[in-house]
Amino acid sequence: KEEQLAVIKGQIKSYPDFPKKGVLFRDVFSVLQNPPIFQLLTDVLIETAKAIQPSVEVIAAVDSRGFLFGPLISLALKIPFVPIRKKGKLPGEVMSHSYTKEYGEDTLQVQVGSISKNSRVLVVDDLIATGGSLKGAVELIKKIGAKPVACLIVIELEDLKGREGVTCDVISLLKY
Ligand code: PRP
Ligand code: HPA
Repeated sequence: KEEQLAVIKGQIKSYPDFPKKGVLFRDVFSVLQNPPIFQLLTDVLIETAKAIQPSVEVIAAVDSRGFLFGPLISLALKIPFVPIRKKGKLPGEVMSHSYTKEYGEDTLQVQVGSISKNSRVLVVDDLIATGGSLKGAVELIKKIGAKPVACLIVIELEDLKGREGVTCDVISLLKY
């Protein structure tokens, strides 16, 4: 597994001073440009999700790059996928949570009734920086009465200590 992760990490391009000075941007989309490596990453994500105990019943992912991976995991595990979106994108009754991220402020929303009460949820995203987005997603899942069991993240920017603010287990594959 360490070998597979090293191959995936080798595919990720980094961009200094994007989107603003001082930020070193890790671009997960570079993995998707190489199908065998994208497949490898997908396989590792699925294998990791399957190993989580107690088993998960719903996959939730964070708008928008979480949507690259969440549905692939939900199909492999044959469990529902639920989007957690930036405000104003989801129809019907929604629950909201505002948060601060590495370079700005945002509000996340989830559809009320999209996740059954007490169901065990795995939260998926491409990257954790300050942890604001993930914390927001976890709080939202709790607000609608479900149980976040873990967060599965492709890239963790460890210096920002984002996982410390998240009140459930954070599993990350690639650490910077
Ligand atoms: C990025 C990234 C994570 C979040 C990480 O998304 O995909 O969701 O920021 O930062 P944080 O840990 O400091 O909250 P962004 O909000 O830029 O939106 P996008 O996925 O639509 O590009
Ligand atoms: N890369 C991609 N997305 C991000 C980053 C990053 O370094 N920081 C916050 N969101």
